[in-house]
Amino acid sequence: MIDKFVWSEKYETGSSLIDKQHKELFLKIDDLSLAIYKGNIKSSLKNMIIFLEKYIQEHFKAEENIMRMAAYPHINDHIRIHKKFNKIFDDLKLDFEKRGGDSYLAIHVEKEIRHWWEEHVLVEDNKYVPYLKNLASG
Ligand SMILES: [Fe+2]
Repeated sequence: MIDKFVWSEKYETGSSLIDKQHKELFLKIDDLSLAIYKGNIKSSLKNMIIFLEKYIQEHFKAEENIMRMAAYPHINDHIRIHKKFNKIFDDLKLDFEKRGGDSYLAIHVEKEIRHWWEEHVLVEDNKYVPYLKNLASG
């Protein structure tokens, strides 16, 4: 069955905006999983790609602004990682445009996005959390 995403403290960044955006994304990934399970492959994959294109632009920009405000010293490394995801996304989108929405691609997208974001929030985003706390208390 479907592994539904469960939000917990370990995902918190200290920014309510960023947490809200992360939650929104994880819910979208759950929607995609459910749609795959129900067999609505093509339209749900298309919706996911449309959603992600806008989301990554807005989310990365918001996060990079916050890191800048918090004077996070490893911001450039973090921006580089965001750029890597942009490339992953561009490849997925291209694949979708070339092949259309088949179930193989849908499952691949769902797994890759779920895995990348879970890891990114827990590992990379987590590194700036102490700096955000300084920002809030300072
Ligand atoms: Fe990030």
